[in-house]
Amino acid sequence: MTRENKNFVVWFTGLSGSGKSTLGEKLKEELETYCTNSFILDGDVLRTGLCSDLGFSDKCRVENIRRVGEVTKLLFLANQNLICSFISPFKKERDNVSKLIGKNNFIEIYLDCSVAVCEKRDVKGLYKKARLGEIKNFTGIDSDYQVPKKPSLVLDTCNCDARTCVAVIIDYLKDKKFI
Ligand code: ADX
Repeated sequence: MTRENKNFVVWFTGLSGSGKSTLGEKLKEELETYCTNSFILDGDVLRTGLCSDLGFSDKCRVENIRRVGEVTKLLFLANQNLICSFISPFKKERDNVSKLIGKNNFIEIYLDCSVAVCEKRDVKGLYKKARLGEIKNFTGIDSDYQVPKKPSLVLDTCNCDARTCVAVIIDYLKDKKFI
């Protein structure tokens, strides 16, 4: 593989409740044991600041990922490793970020977990609100999620615990000589 930069972007995509933030934090912790620093960009956090003017219509989600992609690129060019956790439901926007970073350094990880399981977990109580119609355009209920066709990794977060999933990612990063 030809690659100019040794740093990487791990991009978690999947439904709300599929484990993106949890895995992001655990991966960051694990990377520290390899003396590899990383920085987390998380949808829930970015939406309190840079993207606080955006809602959840398709148009807003496109703009959300566009902005986040640009931030990711700037930090990447400053030699930072990034762990990005965004539903990022649309293929086109995910592909745009991949192009911005360069596909050899962009690791798209699809967290494969059914709506049923995410809804059962419902950590933030948002699925309940969406079912009651209190929240509109909720991913997996009345807003689309386009499953990645060729992600770098697919992790079954319905059945695998976080430790196992992080171990798979670490193996991948080692295999690609990022760490
Ligand atoms: S994205 O679709 O634009 O990529 P992003 O990852 O930034 O979404 O934000 C998703 C988070 O916003 C969810 O984890 C959830 O906590 C919250 N949220 C609030 N309303 C919605 C909604 N309608 N659809 C999905 N997530 C929502």
